[in-house]
Amino acid sequence: MSRLTFTARTSTDPAKAKTHCAVVAIFGSELSASATALDTASNGAISTAIKLGDFKGKPGQTHLLPGIGKAQRVMLLGCGERKSFDQTVARETLQGLSNALNASSTTEALLQAADMVSEVVSGPWLLELVARGITASGYRYTATVAKPKEPLALKKMIVNPGQALSAALAQRALDNGAALGAGINCARELGNLPGNICTPSYLASEARKLSRGNSKVKTQVLEEKKMRELGMGSLLSVSAGSDEPAKLIVIEYRGGKTGDAPQVLVGKGITFDSGGISLKPGASMDEMKYDMCGAASVIGTLQAVIEMGLALNVTGVIAAAENMPSGRATKPGDVVKAMSGTTIEILNTDAEGRLVLCDALTFARRFKPAAVIDIATLTGACVVALGSHASAVYANNEPLAEQLLAAGTETHDRGWRMPLWDDYRKQLKSNFADLANIGSPGGGSVTAACFLATFAEDYPWAHLDIAGSAWNSSPKGATGRPVAMLTRYLQDRAAG
Ligand code: BES
Ligand code: MN
Ligand code: ZN
Repeated sequence: MSRLTFTARTSTDPAKAKTHCAVVAIFGSELSASATALDTASNGAISTAIKLGDFKGKPGQTHLLPGIGKAQRVMLLGCGERKSFDQTVARETLQGLSNALNASSTTEALLQAADMVSEVVSGPWLLELVARGITASGYRYTATVAKPKEPLALKKMIVNPGQALSAALAQRALDNGAALGAGINCARELGNLPGNICTPSYLASEARKLSRGNSKVKTQVLEEKKMRELGMGSLLSVSAGSDEPAKLIVIEYRGGKTGDAPQVLVGKGITFDSGGISLKPGASMDEMKYDMCGAASVIGTLQAVIEMGLALNVTGVIAAAENMPSGRATKPGDVVKAMSGTTIEILNTDAEGRLVLCDALTFARRFKPAAVIDIATLTGACVVALGSHASAVYANNEPLAEQLLAAGTETHDRGWRMPLWDDYRKQLKSNFADLANIGSPGGGSVTAACFLATFAEDYPWAHLDIAGSAWNSSPKGATGRPVAMLTRYLQDRAAG
């Protein structure tokens, strides 16, 4: 799929700007400066449409008018009352714009964004959201559809940032937003691909693409033999029942100074989770192809960070495996030894995410990380607790938790803090090993996080349980979360 392009172009007279589609903001019944200029140039075409009641200027409402000046058509974009135009309304407005542009046959559009900038809605924030939002809403899944629907017409967006923002800063915001949108779409595509295509080996080949032709990126794939040498008995116990070999994928982006401690992202990459011997019930089992969305968010975030060329070091680690039952599969009651030396009694083979992640977390020590964030569709209990609106945020470090929550708020890819109290940790006791892989009943998302915390004591660490936020069940599809939160977090950590 070819990418939509975004160009910042400062123009002064909207009636003289040549475009297929001029998009102008209307605040309730109040015309923005650009709308006023076009209204004057058309003897009141816009104010007439408003007077007739055809258009009420509600957030996200759009209305097409015939051409005015050098614009072949004009799209009125409702923004609600001006005094209420904040980040939330701006999001709603841009969603409406994306939908209208995607439904139209216009191939190019000029958005008069300057009129929408205020003290609460800054220019860079708005432009980043424009490019991100339009890119992400143009995503269509076609990979395994023989007769896909017609592709979208829109190819090019011109955005007028106004005089207050330099053209260079405006272009940077658009470029960053487009990179983020593409990163989100990359994560969605990987999540949506079926388990018979998106295997651990497939994830490895997608990760290798990130380093192709870029000397700042190095991808390395550790095979099962190497993992056995490293003592990753926990991770390997998950892939034991599968014919697909596990892969430990390491992507190193070096945009910062040599020797600067990297931010490490660790992704759960279970490309299909049948539950193993503790087999899941049949209903909706197909959705367990999404059990690699943590891994997908690592790849999507790295893709965005690499494209933005952020000045920092980021390392992605993906624990990729398929969880299947077979004569060679791990059984309930089996005890395995993790890379850290901890022994684990596997009471339920369906609690496999923590088993692959614990070895990846131990492995992450070797990077001497500034922080480690793992991302995982870890527990059904998280869906019960938070539904689909928030990712659960766990952390052993206060600033790290705050930074992630702030990045989530800024991008509307929100997280909600959860506890890691010792009281929960005690639920993981085993009679036959150092640790059980499931907790006694209650607080399933928390006990899973406590299990991981045991392996992440050597560095600032956060865990995002994205079981609810990573995909939608109706209509089915991956959301690309939390790529926006993670990318914003990294943008905030980068120098310059
Ligand atoms: N991948 C699942 C978690 C999951 C379930 C995500 C439903 C999204 C929707 C995970 O591997 C799992 O099976 N967890 C078990 C843990 C239990 C056996 C302690 C669960 O949540 O039921
Ligand atoms: Mn499972
Ligand atoms: Zn799982």
